Amino acid sequence: MILRRRLPALLLGALGVCGAVNVLSAAEVAAARASVTAKPVATVAAHHAAIASAHPEATAAGLEVLRAGGNAFDAAVAVAAALGVVDPAGSGLSGGGFFLLHRARDGKDILIDAREMAPGAANRDMFLDSAGNPVPRLSMDSALGAGIPGEPAGMALVAARYGRLPAAQSLAPAIRLARQGFALTPRLRAELEARQRKFADTPDVARNFLRNGAVPELGVIIRQPELASTLESLAKNGLDSFYRGELARRVVAGVRSLGGIWTEQDLAAYRAIEREPLVAQYRGARIVSAPPPSSGGVGLIEGLNILSNFDLGAVDALTRKHLIIESERRLHRDRAMYLGDPDFVSVPVARLTSPDYAAGLAASIHSAHVLPSANLPGIGAGAAQGPQTTHFSIIDGEGNRVAATLTLNFSFGSGLMVSGTGMFLNNEMDDFSMKPGVPNGYGLVGQEANAIAPGKRMLSSMTPTFVETPDKVMVVGSPGGSFIIGMVLFATLDFLDGRSAAQIVGAPRIHHQYLPDVLMAEPGALTDAERTGLQALGHTVQEGNRRWGNLQVVIQERASGAFDAAADPRGDGVAKIQ
Ligand code: GLY
Repeated sequence: MILRRRLPALLLGALGVCGAVNVLSAAEVAAARASVTAKPVATVAAHHAAIASAHPEATAAGLEVLRAGGNAFDAAVAVAAALGVVDPAGSGLSGGGFFLLHRARDGKDILIDAREMAPGAANRDMFLDSAGNPVPRLSMDSALGAGIPGEPAGMALVAARYGRLPAAQSLAPAIRLARQGFALTPRLRAELEARQRKFADTPDVARNFLRNGAVPELGVIIRQPELASTLESLAKNGLDSFYRGELARRVVAGVRSLGGIWTEQDLAAYRAIEREPLVAQYRGARIVSAPPPSSGGVGLIEGLNILSNFDLGAVDALTRKHLIIESERRLHRDRAMYLGDPDFVSVPVARLTSPDYAAGLAASIHSAHVLPSANLPGIGAGAAQGPQTTHFSIIDGEGNRVAATLTLNFSFGSGLMVSGTGMFLNNEMDDFSMKPGVPNGYGLVGQEANAIAPGKRMLSSMTPTFVETPDKVMVVGSPGGSFIIGMVLFATLDFLDGRSAAQIVGAPRIHHQYLPDVLMAEPGALTDAERTGLQALGHTVQEGNRRWGNLQVVIQERASGAFDAAADPRGDGVAKIQ
């Protein structure tokens, strides 16, 4: 019942990962069926750096910092800060995320956990009514839905421990973009259109993004003076000054005036955490990905381990899709069942990522029919994660790498702006499981492991990942909430099959997340024969008119140093090699 009620949110929300810009007309659907074409890829034997991000200005910001003598980690701070300005629907200072780093000089891999955490006054029932049922949209549309931000602390840690430039220098392009403005792009315009009515009634937002209450035309210059001042203050006083002092006081007062429960103590207590990434082997490749509180790495490795029990190269295209979907069904079931913040609950990471455990799951996969999700032991309904978000991938000339996925959760987070700061408030609290088995805004279900508790980090699906073979390395990730793990899984398989960056980001997508028990497909992802064949195997195929995700891929050949990079054609992003 509840699942049915939330299903439209899943389909209209999670499927609309790239927002309304990805709703296709009938002609576009037909064209998409004919082919999904990627942006031209640059493959050159240059050896300086490559960056793929969701916005041309963010990619340019990273390259500018590299040219000034910065390394990939400085560039990551520049790209993250710039994305918060030019793509404020996807991420921003008041959000959080994960930075996966590889330092070339000593081969160190490290995950910077900058995930938001629940405020001290949060409690497990805060989004339930007196009858114990979730209050519709309370976690998504109100300031109560905002977790304590992690992005400034994450950037501070990346800059101080791994970068070589002062953080202020890496913030400079973002400050310039906020102060002097940037040209409105199709995706941001579409995101603004989707929120126009609400934003027209919100003076802080309307002042920055609308003209006489309407969404401006493409190319109109968008300036954000309040956000520029906030960034200037961080450049002057240090990124950590977000959490203490005058700015922190203003932010807390602003959030409380919107009905939120943040305190100055919450901000002062926030820390970005260095965590050991998860590492696994698949078909001779080394996989490095995000550990809990993201479910990304566990899910990716569990999925690959299941698939290692099959010879995907020896089966036909339909069976290949069936096997991958069946592995997605199983990994998402475990995500719902077991995953949460490892600082609060015991997460059986070793078991879930063990090849032996995967062999057991693989034994339950039949090539001739599906095993419906209802027949898998465990949870009764499903929950997942938010659709907006952003990702960027960087490799610099020294071989340092960054895969960073950052988010406010839904588009523009809650859509509320902290007055005078230019910052949209995240609604990441919706990524907690507010009641066992009740789906969140992405249709994902969860259990006790992901229940709300003060200071706890909500479970994520973000999957920043490195895939290393003896010949090549790929840096990859995407926004897309519950769709992320599957996208990175397919990208990994495609990379290991020798596909180029453009082919990887351009490939049509299919998805299964355990619950709802449907196989979702982008237009053009399935041939008629495949659709019929998958239905005959028992899949409920739902082919919509939307495309999802925004993969950003950078590949480097080890021997020549040559880069191959591509931004997803579904978004406004650009990959550049310099
Ligand atoms: N808010 C999306 C995620 O963390 O997966």
